Amino acid sequence: MKRKVTKAIFPVAGLGTRFLPATKSVPKEIMTLVDRPLIQYAIDEARAAGIKEFIFVTSRGKSALEDYFDQAPDLENSLRKAGKDELLKTLKETSMDSGAIAYIRQHRPLGLGHAVWCARRLVGNEPFAVILPDDVIAAEKPCLQQMVEAYEETGGSMVATMEVSPEKTSSYGVLDVASQTGDVVTVKGMVEKPAAGTAPSNLAVIGRYILSPKIMQNLNRIEKGAGGELQLTDAIAREMDEGRDVFGYRFDGKRYDCGSKAGYLQAMVAFALEREDLRDEFGAYLTEIMALRTTAR
Ligand code: UTP
Repeated sequence: MKRKVTKAIFPVAGLGTRFLPATKSVPKEIMTLVDRPLIQYAIDEARAAGIKEFIFVTSRGKSALEDYFDQAPDLENSLRKAGKDELLKTLKETSMDSGAIAYIRQHRPLGLGHAVWCARRLVGNEPFAVILPDDVIAAEKPCLQQMVEAYEETGGSMVATMEVSPEKTSSYGVLDVASQTGDVVTVKGMVEKPAAGTAPSNLAVIGRYILSPKIMQNLNRIEKGAGGELQLTDAIAREMDEGRDVFGYRFDGKRYDCGSKAGYLQAMVAFALEREDLRDEFGAYLTEIMALRTTAR
């Protein structure tokens, strides 16, 4: 029986070493694309997909993230008094209903699989979504919403996937494809960070998942995998070993790897150019510096 997906896990307990020294005190997920933190994009995407319960797996040093979702009555009052209605509206859109958010600690960064497992009691016996906020996906229809609609047809477990160049496959979980119908790929195996030249395809797993609750039991049973971490990919691969369905979903949209500096900067530029209040001035500046760069060569 297929069940509605109403819970999402946001694993945000990683160390974010690629953004040190900033991540010494600022959680990666609070870094902004223009003026909205990465986590806000993830929350908006989850809401659009019908998620009602938001489970954050956090760690030491992430209190800025918890504060971000609190109401800010003093700030709201000041904006109200100053007649700044647009800003007030923006601010209100970020606050979450009481009881909609839960925070669970991952005491040590033992991997993404372990982070997801930490939320097992909150998920219970229901399918659940996992969103990695550092994968930002710009799409007309939000990526998780696309997946929820596809999942209503397929059931099983589903991962977002996209093609990457063969030299990049060793940075991702990679699908072994059985067949493909439209955007849905039937998967017969999955490998986390395959060694160069051994990837079963160039379809990489991206940070959006809809998972069967059985995955939590699998996480209980698997051993440490690539990088000495408990890998979510390995727990999903176990579903196939036990005869249950796993699908890849080739989403429509552009994904930015905001966990890497280059990806984050690309997203910042792309999102700034999308903004009506910035695109002219910022676009002109980019044209200017690119021209200077060409003449300097
Ligand atoms: P990353 O592989 O990007 O690791 O994790 P990281 O620690 O965030 O960043 P770097 O590589 O050190 O720069 C992918 C996602 O899994 C979460 C991260 O917070 C991120 O959302 N994660 C990873 C955990 O919650 N716990 C872990 O033990 C590992």
